[in-house]
Amino acid sequence: MAPSDPVHAHPAPRLRVGDSVLDVIGHTPLVRLRRFGCGIEPRLFAKLESTNPSGSMKDRAAVRMIEEAETAHRLRPGSTLIVATSGNMGLAMAMVCAVKGFRLICVVDPKISPVTERSLRLYGATVVKVYQRDQTGGYHLTRLDRIASLKAEHPGAVYLDQYDSPANVAAHQEATGPEILEALEGRVRAVALCAGTGGSSMGVARFFREHSPQTDIWLVDEFGSLALPGNHGAAARHLNGMGTSMPPANYDPATFADVIDHVAYVRAAEAIRAAVDLARSEGILAGGTGGAVLHVLRDRAAAAYGPDDNLVAVLPDHGSRYSDTQFEKEWLSVRGIDVPELFTDSHSETTP
Ligand SMILES: Cc1ncc(COP(=O)(O)O)c(C=O)c1O
Repeated sequence: MAPSDPVHAHPAPRLRVGDSVLDVIGHTPLVRLRRFGCGIEPRLFAKLESTNPSGSMKDRAAVRMIEEAETAHRLRPGSTLIVATSGNMGLAMAMVCAVKGFRLICVVDPKISPVTERSLRLYGATVVKVYQRDQTGGYHLTRLDRIASLKAEHPGAVYLDQYDSPANVAAHQEATGPEILEALEGRVRAVALCAGTGGSSMGVARFFREHSPQTDIWLVDEFGSLALPGNHGAAARHLNGMGTSMPPANYDPATFADVIDHVAYVRAAEAIRAAVDLARSEGILAGGTGGAVLHVLRDRAAAAYGPDDNLVAVLPDHGSRYSDTQFEKEWLSVRGIDVPELFTDSHSETTP
């Protein structure tokens, strides 16, 4: 084993002391997946964004968006911020607002996981939930209507739109992308990311196009999402955080094809099965969107790559967030999502 081989190197632990929790955002680890990826030729790595302090990759974007608004004098001490969120951006902004003394109103929809909703309140955020589906079958357009009325109710409140945010993209272009390339010492054959607001995928993709143009970027969305050019039309979606009911401005159609090499659509069952497989083979709990990117890398993309290729999946958050939803029997069965492996655990006790 060559010490210089990035796959086998044991990096010295990086101990950081932050002045606040905001100082310890980012620098998330990559983990080689040996058992999950067994049977495929290329080397598979997972970047664990759940190790960010509020538990997801959104910490990077939240602090950047809020600090840019502060610099532009849009926020003053005691200001109220409004955000539309599937959960993770709300948690990340709630963390930042707690540190900086801003009030936060999170506009959410019924797809939010109960544990995330409780955590938002724990951080001191106000949660406003919309229940009416919009004409695409999603909730985003209803959330935008509610934001308009909240802005009228709270004069001076600032809506930070993560779907149309150069700061959201820049946070990943300047940190997440470089961290991946640096960790693998410049040898990254492909990176797979989730489609949502476009912040993480467009940011990482732009970084790689500039600094490692030979790296393929795989963008993964759920069937039924309207986020990306060439989508298959609106339908019910189940993976919290992935997909949108309208194309986010962050996916600038003029540059999309220049930075994204492959788009892959998944069904919730494929994604959740991969997340279960990851938990049991590697001891890593990831949410369903992390399962989605891993499913695509291992089961669809890997065949195109060889044994010297490093493939990286960015896993947005932790699976424990979804123990009452994506990994719960009743929740799955009501939605017709078939994940039999979740309920065939030979180790489980049958008596209370
Ligand atoms: C769990 C999860 N996965 C994927 C995404 C999509 O990431 P992005 O908004 O950077 O496109 C999000 C965004 O909310 C998320 O919360």
